[in-house]
Amino acid sequence: IPHCIDAEEESSLPPEVHFSCTKSIEFNGSQKQGLSEVVLQVPLFPEYVQEHWKEDAFFGYQFLNGVNPMLIRRCTTLPSNFPVTDGMVFLRGQSSLKEEMKKGNIFLVDYKLLDGVKTNTINGKKQYLMAPLVLLHKTPEDELMPIAIQLKQTPADDNPIFFPTDSEYDWLMAKIFVRSADWNMHQLNAHLLRAHLLPEVFTVSLLRNVPMVHPLYKLLIPHTRYTLQINHMARDRLISEDGVFKEIAACGGEGMIEILRRFMSSMTYSSLCIKDDIAKRGLEDVPNFYYRDDGLRLWKSIHRFVQGVLRYYYKTDAEVKEDSELQKWISDIFVHGFLSRESSGIPQSFTSVAEMVKFVTMVIFTCSAQHAAVNSGQYDYGGWMPNAPSSLQLPPPTKKGTTSEATMLETFPDVNTTANGMAALWLLSKQSSDFVRLGDYPEEHFTEETPRKLIKEFNERLERLKMRIKDREKNLKVPYTYLKPDMVENSVAI
Ligand SMILES: *[C@@H]1O[C@H](CO)[C@@H](O)[C@H](O)[C@H]1NC(C)=O
Ligand SMILES: [Fe+2]
Repeated sequence: IPHCIDAEEESSLPPEVHFSCTKSIEFNGSQKQGLSEVVLQVPLFPEYVQEHWKEDAFFGYQFLNGVNPMLIRRCTTLPSNFPVTDGMVFLRGQSSLKEEMKKGNIFLVDYKLLDGVKTNTINGKKQYLMAPLVLLHKTPEDELMPIAIQLKQTPADDNPIFFPTDSEYDWLMAKIFVRSADWNMHQLNAHLLRAHLLPEVFTVSLLRNVPMVHPLYKLLIPHTRYTLQINHMARDRLISEDGVFKEIAACGGEGMIEILRRFMSSMTYSSLCIKDDIAKRGLEDVPNFYYRDDGLRLWKSIHRFVQGVLRYYYKTDAEVKEDSELQKWISDIFVHGFLSRESSGIPQSFTSVAEMVKFVTMVIFTCSAQHAAVNSGQYDYGGWMPNAPSSLQLPPPTKKGTTSEATMLETFPDVNTTANGMAALWLLSKQSSDFVRLGDYPEEHFTEETPRKLIKEFNERLERLKMRIKDREKNLKVPYTYLKPDMVENSVAI
């Protein structure tokens, strides 16, 4: 997994990267208060989820606009280990998979990276984590409806494919196992690895290789605020041997490093660049995909800003090639962040201004927008536990017709596990009072007129985007606000 800062304790981090007093007090206080606050305050969104979590349309919606919009892809051929036939999903012969695939209406979510991992033991009980395959169909009403779920990767008699036409609890249990796999995949891959551990590498490489007078330092340092300390805390309290993940998550404990290693080897440059990622997943024209719509606009805004600033300092590609500090920054990221894996597609050096601009855009996007997209909604979607169980304590049904409300309740985590999980999500979704929003640069590192003008224009674009998203909110049952520019933090700080 990516290398991390060598600091034994929080206090051994350099003073300039520490939390402010305000942030320390709030954070440490709220960790203890988390539980009671969860009980005292009843936020609105988990109530919405409580009402709708069983609905197929809401289940489908979350693959696009929930906390993990990173997995769904358009499906043009069925994987050979997912033998769904037309007769199973189009009961009245009204269409066929082939035809619907041709129209671009079939989507797949595959948790294969979770297959066969060693799961946790919680309260003395073995926990279960599946590696499901989910097939979805976009209806003429533009809803994304799950049409088939297989919970384990290898087709077998004791691994039935579930359908919406099965008994209420067979189908619901299948969806619950998917939501639990999603909780684990989201936390370790989308959130921890990509939106915390990578930003730490960007940060350490910057501090180590780039002097304060360098334009790259001035451009990036605001996007590294609090990242080293929050990651230190995550290592200390969340993913440590006796941390929160060991207490609440199916992926916690011994298996976690193996899971992270698998995610690590699947991490590519294109999957970190939203435009390439959306294209690769074939999602350019899926309706009601707000993560994509807002994310692409934010990427474009950030790109224009980064391009303006860097083109002002680097007039030619030769200047990029000759900047040894810049080159050391990217080569350290390749080595320590991607463990020198060439197949990741991460550049090992920069040969042009354009290449540097794209990479720096990805860094700012990942540390701000992408982290917000996978972080801010955690309590909204996970606050009602059945919608996102961090672990399950019974295996899934091996044949149909054996489930009931009672088996569902026995499968859910214990009450104390649930409460601990809710408190953690609550804490991680809370905005702190010294939050700095995307594009706000209170430290004024740049003194020249051109970069200052570019900052102003960047902020004007963000303001327009904010108004546009506000307008959209009026027409939505469930507003998507995680990428509203004033809700996006400048750095990975929580
Ligand atoms: C959590 O709940 C389980 C099941 O009710 C119980 O066995 C266990 O002792 C509890 N753990 C703690 C720390 O209270
Ligand atoms: Fe986070």
